[in-house]
Amino acid sequence: MMLVLGIESSCDETAAALVTADRTILAQRIASQDEAHRPYGGVVPEIAARAHAERIAPLIAATLADAGLALGDVDAIAATAGPGLIGGVMVGLVTAKALAMAGDKPLLAVNHLEGHALSPRLADPALEFPYLLLLASGGHCQLLLVEGVGRYRRLGTTIDDALGEAFDKTAKVLGLGYPGGPAVERLAATGDARKVPLPRPLLGTPEPHFSFAGLKSAVLRAREAGGHDPADIAAAFQQAAIDCVIDRTRLALALAGPVGALVVAGGVAANLAIRAALEALAAGHGLRFVAPPLALCTDNAAMIAWAGLERMAAEGGAGAGDPLDFAARP
Ligand code: KG4
Ligand code: ZN
Repeated sequence: MMLVLGIESSCDETAAALVTADRTILAQRIASQDEAHRPYGGVVPEIAARAHAERIAPLIAATLADAGLALGDVDAIAATAGPGLIGGVMVGLVTAKALAMAGDKPLLAVNHLEGHALSPRLADPALEFPYLLLLASGGHCQLLLVEGVGRYRRLGTTIDDALGEAFDKTAKVLGLGYPGGPAVERLAATGDARKVPLPRPLLGTPEPHFSFAGLKSAVLRAREAGGHDPADIAAAFQQAAIDCVIDRTRLALALAGPVGALVVAGGVAANLAIRAALEALAAGHGLRFVAPPLALCTDNAAMIAWAGLERMAAEGGAGAGDPLDFAARP
């Protein structure tokens, strides 16, 4: 049974995981840096890179120990090679290269977005290609038609902010701290969205792109104008975000052609209100709705190991590796 060590370090999570080809996660560890970045209300690249450099080696050693395994037991080393914060990506990729060299194992340089795109298949063996994926995280907001391993068609993307970023900035404006998504969702549940009129950028436009900068500014203006309950602002923001997401996803479904499922991944997939709206959209189209468990939605190393396993299966065995001079990508 093929066994891959996955390494993820592209944002503010240092993570390692051991995953087998039959979808078993033998061990995984995630060291979050939320505390280090909280005073700044967002991820500080320099702080993130240093934290990755301190943590990554002991974290990998501990993950192997958790599974009672050694480097020699692993068939390949998969690591995020980008896109992400370059300092962190370099730490993870160079560590993977060193382990690949030391253990004489193939290196699998994985695109972080490919990790997110394929992670639903780690959780759900029945999920087959093609599917439409909404990938919404702190750094990305894309609609991808996933046709197969290595075959992704981007139908839409954000022209400014990512959706998670908009949640984080809204949280900052409302004084809710970092990371903001869960806090905004909690507060929104107690508010009335109708009390604060907010824009729905790009709604109804002919390509399924996203824009959240104008919405973010409108939240700031509503806050500065005063007189609004923060819970109502949170609810109005979340409702505007949902309306945009559903309109854009509906259009992408129309453009995608036949698909078997609508899938959501990325940190924002943790939002239950967004999930519910997407589930209803899928049901309206007679489609399966797939949302991986939250631990697989946010940044993690199991999805990187799994993307490596998918690639090996598609390309024929662990012989399919990347060169040791593979470049890290910001
Ligand atoms: O995928 P992820 O862990 O990291 C990357 O950005 O790649 O996503 C983190 C993002 C953050 O912006 C966070 O605020 C958002 O996902 N998020 C949420 C929720 N939980 C996390 N956004 C809305 N509602 C949530 N419940
Ligand atoms: Zn991510």
